Amino acid sequence: MADSIKEFKFNTKNEFHQFIIKHTDFLKDLVSIQNSSGISYNFNRNSLYEFLKTDFKNNGSVFFIYENKEPIGAIWGYRDPFGDKEFTLSFFAIKKEYQGKGLGKKLMKFVYDKLLKTKRYNKIGMISEKGTRAINERLTGKKGNSSKYTLKKNGCRDEITIKPKLRHIL
Ligand SMILES: CC(C)(COP(=O)(O)OP(=O)(O)OC[C@H]1O[C@@H](n2cnc3c(N)ncnc32)[C@H](O)[C@@H]1OP(=O)(O)O)[C@@H](O)C(=O)NCCC(=O)NCCS
Repeated sequence: MADSIKEFKFNTKNEFHQFIIKHTDFLKDLVSIQNSSGISYNFNRNSLYEFLKTDFKNNGSVFFIYENKEPIGAIWGYRDPFGDKEFTLSFFAIKKEYQGKGLGKKLMKFVYDKLLKTKRYNKIGMISEKGTRAINERLTGKKGNSSKYTLKKNGCRDEITIKPKLRHIL
């Protein structure tokens, strides 16, 4: 059983920079997840720092999922500067030895629930890869339309929105 999921939220480049100075393991953990997941990204700590600093200039978040206190999977994304309150999911990976146990789905669901509950975001968008598409379809059902979320397949992108509560539309 994964023991927890945690969000690290950054509002500005500088906030991210200050955090990284104090938390030296943060980038190490992300690189380790990347290297142990089979994903085709090839960041080292320095290039990842530069990449994230740019992504996080205007709101970004990293979510870690832990197993016995070890970070074994992550999602990161940022507020799309052009989209209407869209959180653009940019990275999603689970370490190989923990794949296929439902942890990726658990992490995605947590991120959707957490972000779409706030007024910061009204949509989660991502380039559709096999894994993200499979999990999005499982979270929204065969028709992409569960009681909670709607999945819109928009070209090579997947977009998840949350359904308005009945009291909001009455
Ligand atoms: C994609 C990834 C994060 C999924 O994590 P995971 O913990 O293995 O996924 P889960 O066990 O929660 O899978 C949930 C369901 O989705 C399905 N699924 C997951 N990845 C899949 C894939 N690549 N292709 C098809 N189905 C997939 C699982 O079979 C499972 O189905 P089930 O509910 O019917 O049993 C993980 O495989 C990974 O890190 N892959 C390498 C990086 C990557 O491709 N990232 C996505 C693009 S950024």
